[in-house]
Amino acid sequence: MVTRKLNVGLLGCGTVGRGLVELVARNHTLIRQRTGVELAITRILVRDAGKERPGVERNLLTTHPEKVIDNGCDLVVELIGGIEPARALIQRSLARSKHVVTANKALLALDGFSIMKAAEIQKVRLGFEASVCGGIPIIRALRNGLVGNQIHSLRGILNGTCNYILTRMTEDRVDFNDALAEAQAKGFAEADPTLDIDGHDAAQKLKILAELAFHAHVPAQAVLVEGIRHITADDIQAARELGYVIKHIAAAECSGDCMSLQVHPVLLPGKHQLAGIRDENNAVLVRGDAVGEMVFSGKGAGSLPSASAVLSDVVDIACHQGGFSASQGKVLDTHAPDDHGKHYLRFPVDDPSAIAAITTVLERNGIGIARAAAVWAKSASAQNQVRVLTQDCLRSTVETSLRDISASGVEKGQGIALRVMD
Ligand SMILES: NC(=O)c1ccc[n+]([C@@H]2O[C@H](COP(=O)([O-])OP(=O)(O)OC[C@H]3O[C@@H](n4cnc5c(N)ncnc54)[C@H](OP(=O)(O)O)[C@@H]3O)[C@@H](O)[C@H]2O)c1
Repeated sequence: MVTRKLNVGLLGCGTVGRGLVELVARNHTLIRQRTGVELAITRILVRDAGKERPGVERNLLTTHPEKVIDNGCDLVVELIGGIEPARALIQRSLARSKHVVTANKALLALDGFSIMKAAEIQKVRLGFEASVCGGIPIIRALRNGLVGNQIHSLRGILNGTCNYILTRMTEDRVDFNDALAEAQAKGFAEADPTLDIDGHDAAQKLKILAELAFHAHVPAQAVLVEGIRHITADDIQAARELGYVIKHIAAAECSGDCMSLQVHPVLLPGKHQLAGIRDENNAVLVRGDAVGEMVFSGKGAGSLPSASAVLSDVVDIACHQGGFSASQGKVLDTHAPDDHGKHYLRFPVDDPSAIAAITTVLERNGIGIARAAAVWAKSASAQNQVRVLTQDCLRSTVETSLRDISASGVEKGQGIALRVMD
């Protein structure tokens, strides 16, 4: 096999960047044997060149971007993260006709379309496998393997922190704050976990996947986002008693010229394919017109799983130089249709006999009730509750009923209304 050299300039040498350096050092002979590509990381941009970085050659480090980008490299890997200077450095690399690989979901969700367009104009390729679901090759599957399908829907667990917290709450019966503290102690959750637990990280990833799957431009505000901080240990227990588990699900559906994108906690039947995805793992369930349903699952983050995805892009570009990324841009109606399905409702109340007033309002609004229970608090710090599992009904009717119940004065505090997915 003829060997071709590929010089890689690396921007950023943190969690994923160091993983990439390690993986290239460990597997470059294997990669050469399998593909004929001899990889070499030529320079590495960092903020602090004096920082200790085991396994990284110190003389490769620089704090000057031009020494990485304008130094004869063929491809630039951006692993800095955030919007600036990552965006400017990617644009500069593309303008100099370098292929680019990035793991930057925040930037792609904000400005992916114009970055893809710039790559297309320069006839270079843009790889972003590591931006969604770390080591799981879902981007490649949507771009290549499933290209002969019309994708109807995607449903996934896209945020490892939320899944870790909900798994701990379900399996160890701890409350939200304890599970979050454990996720932080294990390094799965950031010191400021807001982006994860309020659903925005999953929304950014869903936007990237939906644009690929539906070949459409998705405005950021089209994604309806709900996080998990209002889920209590009682909700998890109540779901379990009904045969469900609570998962944080990102869902995108496309039908004709309309698509809907939602990120929210839902009740999944215990046998659902996504119900068994535990801890910090991610999974995506894709439904295409030819393949039917397929599940992709595995490690959604971490140094080596993410570096594995970055490396797959680098090698793919090295083996298929000459191709360039196609930009997408079809405009679809993103007005979410009214959801129809069962709902789990929980109302904090002073007196559990409020169940009569609550079920009366629901029935008056046409919502059938599958189960309803008045639950007395088990401790002085807990609150009495009314819990309801509805029959299939419209989400808008549920929201009207929640407003009516709140106005009636029987609800004492913040309740919950979760969708049930079959
Ligand atoms: N961590 C994961 O598991 C994971 C998974 C999938 C995708 N990603 C994505 O991968 C990207 C990198 O994440 P990470 O976790 O590896 O980040 P990180 O650990 O914070 O590393 C960032 C690197 O960029 C360098 N850097 C930051 N600002 C810079 C600046 N202004 N100029 C020059 N260098 C700068 C830092 O230099 P110093 O080392 O000198 O501070 C550091 O080496 C992000 O887009 C992230 O969303 C991460």
